[in-house]
Amino acid sequence: MNFWDQRFAEPGFKYGTEPNAFLHDQAYRLLPVSQVLVPGDGEGRNGVWLATQGHGVTSVDSSAVGLQKAQVLAASRGVPLRTEVVDLADWQPAAASFDALILIYTHLPAAFRQTAHQRLAHGLRSGAWVVLEAFHPAQLGYNSGGPKDVDMLYSPEQLSADFEGLIQPVLTWHGEITLAEGPSHQGLAHVTRWVGQRI
Ligand SMILES: C[S@@+](CC[C@H](N)C(=O)[O-])C[C@H]1O[C@@H](n2cnc3c(N)ncnc32)[C@H](O)[C@@H]1O
Repeated sequence: MNFWDQRFAEPGFKYGTEPNAFLHDQAYRLLPVSQVLVPGDGEGRNGVWLATQGHGVTSVDSSAVGLQKAQVLAASRGVPLRTEVVDLADWQPAAASFDALILIYTHLPAAFRQTAHQRLAHGLRSGAWVVLEAFHPAQLGYNSGGPKDVDMLYSPEQLSADFEGLIQPVLTWHGEITLAEGPSHQGLAHVTRWVGQRI
């Protein structure tokens, strides 16, 4: 069992069962019945919500335990969800096969973050959307969740550099918000919000 398997094996949903607020607000950009890739979907709150909106969703994650819970959540909402256990350190989707890429608190280490982001971007069709929310390096001064290693935290500038030449940034922001996402994300936080479109 990996770190995330152990966390997700505990009762309940670490980040709740409702979608992330930024994803909820940005999802209007997606065309109806989009094919959506959700790497690091964990217990599935975001992928399942996108499926209830009529999209075809593929959730990939290194936690088999998380994705099993995602399947249970999908069944409880009466929607299909494709899931695959993968390690984003070396996984890549088929080229140009998705209309949107959703990365919500999918914190990857600097050692392979950029190459993983580029591989994921290659899986997008031209015009496809990227919607990302993650903790900013300034989150180290807060107690509302997230990695304690600055190497795993994202600034908007890092993300724009990761995706340069592949994804055109459309919205880049960082600042304070109040999180209310299950027991693991609660309170004042400093986050990065980033939206872009596949070139
Ligand atoms: C903070 S949780 C966020 C879960 C979900 N996105 C949410 O917001 O509810 C981070 C997720 O990223 C996944 N993850 C971390 N490193 C990964 C990797 N190398 N490959 C695949 N998934 C990974 C974890 O298993 C976990 O589900």
